[in-house]
Amino acid sequence: MTVASSPVVPAVDGSRQSTVAAENKVPRHVAIIMDGNGRWAERRHLPRVAGHRAGAEAVRRAMQAAVDAGVECLTVYAFSSENWRRSEEEVSDLKGLMRFYVERELATLQKEGVRLRLIGEPGKFGNELMTKLQHSVEETRNNNRLTLAVALNYGSQGEIAAAARELASRAAKGEIAPEQIDEAAIAGLLQTRDLPPLDLLIRTSGEVRLSNFLLWQAAYAELVFTDTLWPDFDEAAFNEALAEYARRQRRFGGR
Ligand code: IPE
Ligand code: IPE
Ligand code: MG
Repeated sequence: MTVASSPVVPAVDGSRQSTVAAENKVPRHVAIIMDGNGRWAERRHLPRVAGHRAGAEAVRRAMQAAVDAGVECLTVYAFSSENWRRSEEEVSDLKGLMRFYVERELATLQKEGVRLRLIGEPGKFGNELMTKLQHSVEETRNNNRLTLAVALNYGSQGEIAAAARELASRAAKGEIAPEQIDEAAIAGLLQTRDLPPLDLLIRTSGEVRLSNFLLWQAAYAELVFTDTLWPDFDEAAFNEALAEYARRQRRFGGR
């Protein structure tokens, strides 16, 4: 089929472009800092856990929106390595929700062809939750419509430090020369090594910071910040972020 005869869709700026060009603008890898659950609950005079529960529903909507849009990988920040600073009650509530959702959502993951991946150090949540999580990872390993990477007890500086430690240890053993330690060597030891390059990073709730999330991976990602609180983030909000991404011009240092 020639370009001239291919179907056209209206572009965001009102001009017309081929669907081929439009499809190229779908990010392969989207990451989300899902922030604002506490404020969502506060505004409704509800306990924080109600916000986290509503937030978990928003994850399922984002996952569906990512599948529908043809995104390859969605990485969500569910619990940071700094979130242990929260009250014991809140941490325990979050663990309870994870336990509930990892069981309930397995059927949805299978139905939608979603492969579950974990990044971070989720072992700190204990054996029971870890067993359930690993079960879902194992059961969904051959799904190939979307990879859903859930960051649990994740911290980007810790992840980079671990890669540096491993490379130092290999160098000390004489397995590699220090000169071989380059960007690719580090990237190859990050937990995201088998995921596509990060294209789009979204943060909800009006905060404009990365909070130790995917610092290395975001080097050339497009950043989208929205005031929407995470529990209110729906398919339309997800698609709006994709539209914003499509309007961006990525240059990677070129002109
Ligand atoms: C994000 O919502 C969820 C987690 C960090 C687990 P918050 O709980 O941070 O919500 P706010 O920022 O207090 O509103
Ligand atoms: C970042 O949100 C972590 C997650 C969304 C899991 P926080 O609410 O913990 O971030 P800060 O403390 O406002 O930077
Ligand atoms: Mg927060």
